[in-house]
Amino acid sequence: MTDTLARRLANLQDRQPATWAVTGAAARPNLHAMLRYPAMMVPKMQGDIVDTLLDYISGSSHVVDPFVGSGTVMTESLLRGLDFTGIDINPLAILVCEAKAAIDIGADITAAANATLQAIRFDVQDNVDVDFPGLTKWFDVSAALQLSRIRRAIMQVPDQAARKVIWTVFTETIRLSSNSRTSTYKLHMRAEGDRVAADRILQIFEDSLRKTLLQVAAYRKLIGDRPRRPDIKILCGDARAIALDQKPSHHNILVTSPPYGDNQTTIPYGQFSYLALRWIPIEDLNPLAGRLTMNTNSLDSVSLGGSVKFADVKAKQITGISPSLDRLMQDAAIAGTARGLRKVVSFMTDFFESLDHLRKALPANGHWVLTTGNRTASGRTIPFDSICREMLCYLGARPIATVHRRLPVKRMPSKNNMGLMITTETTLVAEFH
Ligand SMILES: C[S@@+](CC[C@H](N)C(=O)[O-])C[C@H]1O[C@@H](n2cnc3c(N)ncnc32)[C@H](O)[C@@H]1O
Repeated sequence: MTDTLARRLANLQDRQPATWAVTGAAARPNLHAMLRYPAMMVPKMQGDIVDTLLDYISGSSHVVDPFVGSGTVMTESLLRGLDFTGIDINPLAILVCEAKAAIDIGADITAAANATLQAIRFDVQDNVDVDFPGLTKWFDVSAALQLSRIRRAIMQVPDQAARKVIWTVFTETIRLSSNSRTSTYKLHMRAEGDRVAADRILQIFEDSLRKTLLQVAAYRKLIGDRPRRPDIKILCGDARAIALDQKPSHHNILVTSPPYGDNQTTIPYGQFSYLALRWIPIEDLNPLAGRLTMNTNSLDSVSLGGSVKFADVKAKQITGISPSLDRLMQDAAIAGTARGLRKVVSFMTDFFESLDHLRKALPANGHWVLTTGNRTASGRTIPFDSICREMLCYLGARPIATVHRRLPVKRMPSKNNMGLMITTETTLVAEFH
């Protein structure tokens, strides 16, 4: 039976549609384009893999994404009517997934959009309603006044579920209109001549709102009249410790793309999210947001690999689990560069802890689909794909297939849009009994 699945996945990889290589807006239809989030997966590829699994699995399935981000896997699951659980430590990721859930369950987004636009029109106040470290650096006063006006209007939307969709639009407006560059996920000052004029901000928001309404309509057309509404759970927390209660009667499919490495040296999801999280009222965010946005570094430091404290202890703990990781550390020790890999070791230990926890927290049987990227650190390629496979084998999984997406640019290694060197992208499909 497993051989059949392996063969089907091999076929899928060999005959992969050209659309797998398409990136940018064209690859992100319906709700996939709601928010620009770092390192989003290619929806079509994940959807095709899920379809291949569904053809093979009998009975009802439940999809879990423990590093859900902006919810690419969530949207693909809901489009197929599958129950879904998404987890992320980033309250902004949780907000956008909750917004997607609100759209799925039928919240009236048009009414929320109209109420917001009307409230903006009638707003006569002239004050900046938020205050946080860095406010005046990242926003000119005129911009902060405009954003406060939009913020006050959104706060008047009565339905919280629909309001979260409008906050997602507001997030995009903040990203486009702050004084931080849009070309990097780090907070990084724009050049003086590159700042967005305050009188354009309202237009940016309205354009983004209009686009979102079209995306909502496209999504709702696709889901049509489903016989049953999927069950959706969105949880904010650490994948190393979060409590899950999954029905053992469901076949579990875990589909995810973990971070490439620690947030500080790879993608700073926390910095990327900081400004929006400080503008959105805490009442509409997960309660963890308060603690995780104390400063621009708070979220990144509690994410996987966020701390090198106890790195030596961690290095001992992780030894003997993945031969590829052991080899990497031995080679670095011989070359005298082991210190440069402390963050890598710390990240890998945390990552293993999350796999181990999820393995125990989820029903015993299931398929796991993990997309990983290999990157370079201290002049070495970090073979995250092999490390991930070996960790799963250590936990008792059986690898079934590896699917490589043909990257759009032939040159290797390729840089993603924040300059991170990614040498490969691999999707591993494994089975637990
Ligand atoms: C590669 S991104 C996922 C992107 C997602 N697949 C998408 O298409 O938008 C990895 C995610 O892992 C999250 N993350 C990092 N450390 C975490 C932890 N300890 N627990 C849960 N999520 C974590 C980050 O916040 C980030 O959203």
